[in-house]
Amino acid sequence: MKHNIGIIMNGVTGRMGTNQHLIRSIIAIREQGGVQLANGDVIMPDPILVGRNEEKLKTLADKYNIERWSTDLEACLANPNDIIYFDAQTTVRRAEAIKQAIAAGKHIYCEKPTATSLEGSLELAKLAKEAGVKNGVVQDKLFLPGLLKLKRLIDSGFFGKILSVRMEFGYWVFEGDWQDAQRPSWNYRKEDGGGMVVDMFAHWRYVLDNLFGNVTAVSAYATTHIPKRIDEGGKEYECTADDAAYATFELEGGIVAQVNSSWAVRVNRDDLLTIQVDGTEGSAVAGLRDCKSQHRVNTPKPVWNPDIENPFNFLEQWEEVPANQEFENAFKIQWEQFLKHVVVDEEFPWDLLEGAKGTQLSDLGLKSSEERRWIDVPELSI
Ligand SMILES: NC(=O)c1ccc[n+]([C@@H]2O[C@H](COP(=O)([O-])OP(=O)(O)OC[C@H]3O[C@@H](n4cnc5c(N)ncnc54)[C@H](O)[C@@H]3O)[C@@H](O)[C@H]2O)c1
Repeated sequence: MKHNIGIIMNGVTGRMGTNQHLIRSIIAIREQGGVQLANGDVIMPDPILVGRNEEKLKTLADKYNIERWSTDLEACLANPNDIIYFDAQTTVRRAEAIKQAIAAGKHIYCEKPTATSLEGSLELAKLAKEAGVKNGVVQDKLFLPGLLKLKRLIDSGFFGKILSVRMEFGYWVFEGDWQDAQRPSWNYRKEDGGGMVVDMFAHWRYVLDNLFGNVTAVSAYATTHIPKRIDEGGKEYECTADDAAYATFELEGGIVAQVNSSWAVRVNRDDLLTIQVDGTEGSAVAGLRDCKSQHRVNTPKPVWNPDIENPFNFLEQWEEVPANQEFENAFKIQWEQFLKHVVVDEEFPWDLLEGAKGTQLSDLGLKSSEERRWIDVPELSI
């Protein structure tokens, strides 16, 4: 049996909407013949593209052979055949649209952060629960090959007791004057939902919680290194949002995680995100796709002596963790799981309450920075 699932895809002409959600996920799922279920049934996503700009929508729909598109969200929500509402609009617009969709009885799947404040994010989780609609939030980093390999090491007990985690994230985002910026300008304006903390702490929360242990406290220093940038129209604007955050998190079990996130850093590491984990029995460094490890028995014994040439090539003393499987696009893996959750009720733990935890960490991170102090992260419930 084929389950045709109508999906209202809002904000689909944006960077994430087009590349990750439409092309790499929904179109890819359609092209592979849908999502196969254990009983032989197939789920076939049937998207309707929603946005503000008719021209852009029509071009996108034509390019990927999608029949349905609309600029009228209300009319889309009124169609009972479209049972899922998906949102990848800019963050400030998300909560209102999701509320409308919940009121219309749609299942919800959306980008992070789910709202611009913890209150807003919790409200969405609560409304979805009360309405009995299924809901999910994108937590794509969990499905990156590098992090899946790291998870395999954790599950095998490779690390012994995990002591610390250090994450380096970021790259140089051009200011837009002599080279175009490679990220949308709203990301650098607080009033438009931008900011490193708001953007990335939402990710760090689920990465830390899911891989290592729940975050219990945060100390952060957020700052704006580049005060002015040039927007898409060539106009100079004030950067009102933070573009870097230097944070320390305390996790359950006494693990310390240090996380540097910056749009004003030049990359001198293996990847745009690297996660080093040190444990009593071994260490590992994961990037987006790769992961390398060093076991206790293979650990060299450096001795501090700057008077001689360094006898070690430290970077060569690590072993690649093999793939041993095909890795699919991270967004697609999560879409497939959400579709199975909607159609056959398979488990899907990454719901709006989990999403709210991300917003909670951003809120507390900014507070910690403003007040220059450690802040505990209380448990969330609705
Ligand atoms: N999961 C991830 O790794 C990841 C990465 C980047 C961004 N994001 C999130 O995805 C969302 C979109 O980010 P993006 O980089 O694709 O941004 P973008 O600016 O490229 O796209 C935003 C979309 O929202 C639409 N939009 C903007 N203002 C609107 C308005 N006033 N009315 C109606 N539609 C409007 C745009 O047309 C576009 O379709 C953000 O919430 C961001 O936090 C997630």
